[in-house]
Amino acid sequence: MDDRDATRRVAAHYSRDAEAFARYWAPYLRPKAEALLDRLPLAEARVVLDLGTGTGALLPSIRAAAPRALVVGTDLAEGMLRLARAGAPGPLALMDDQQLALLDRCADGALLSFVLHRLPDPAAALGEVARVLRPGGVVGTVTWGHGRRAEAGRVWDAILAARGVPSEPSTVDNHALVDQPAKLRALMLGAGLEPLEAWTSTYEQRYDLEGWLDFAIGSGVGRRAAPELRQEYLREARQRMAGLSPEAYVVRSEVVYAVARRRGARPLDPRANEP
Ligand SMILES: C[S@@+](CC[C@H](N)C(=O)[O-])C[C@H]1O[C@@H](n2cnc3c(N)ncnc32)[C@H](O)[C@@H]1O
Repeated sequence: MDDRDATRRVAAHYSRDAEAFARYWAPYLRPKAEALLDRLPLAEARVVLDLGTGTGALLPSIRAAAPRALVVGTDLAEGMLRLARAGAPGPLALMDDQQLALLDRCADGALLSFVLHRLPDPAAALGEVARVLRPGGVVGTVTWGHGRRAEAGRVWDAILAARGVPSEPSTVDNHALVDQPAKLRALMLGAGLEPLEAWTSTYEQRYDLEGWLDFAIGSGVGRRAAPELRQEYLREARQRMAGLSPEAYVVRSEVVYAVARRRGARPLDPRANEP
């Protein structure tokens, strides 16, 4: 599979699963992405891009952090953009992060929240960011670092595997390219950006048994099963998981942040560039 096919497959996956993403992931990822906004000087920005905006969960927070800016959400998955459109007013555009349909030096800020690991070529996307940022413009990224599978997840996977439920068709998994601050710094340098800082924090989501089962069936392969089968999986899971400790239902992972800027001085008067 070449990069273009892989890119299309990822977009198709997110389009199809947009509702599940909106319910089971977007609200939990948003606070992690909001931490980036504290580190990006966007108060005077005029154009800010949320690249791979998904269901647009971060857009209101970006607008609050960049009150003078036109904030544009982009994504390659139509299904995600449809939900973003329903959620909040504002410009959205369908485009590939690795090939942005945007003019050089058009933006003061860009964010990529939990996107880089899903791109066949994250370096190309950062190269595109460098191209579309104005000198002095800033980019912030957040993505997954090292995590561990929750015990409840292992039990759930075993139940599905024993019943022959096929696993999800694989989309691009480039976690290993972007899962450490040093890797992100290197990618940003390679893209011609000046890394400013990179750090980690912890993502933690705690469930109880029923909350876990709702998450597992709603966000994984189980949701594609016929309703009566789903009920069977859930019955078995309730029996097998009843004795697990609360820790078994904790999803915990490192998240990795990086902030960089495009080299060059920001014009003293931003209107100086205008005709
Ligand atoms: C894990 S979701 C994160 C969504 C959103 N940024 C958030 O934090 O809630 C990854 C997003 O990247 C988008 N995406 C994947 N490949 C892309 C590409 N090549 N160009 C643009 N968006 C892409 C997906 O469609 C999906 O919306």
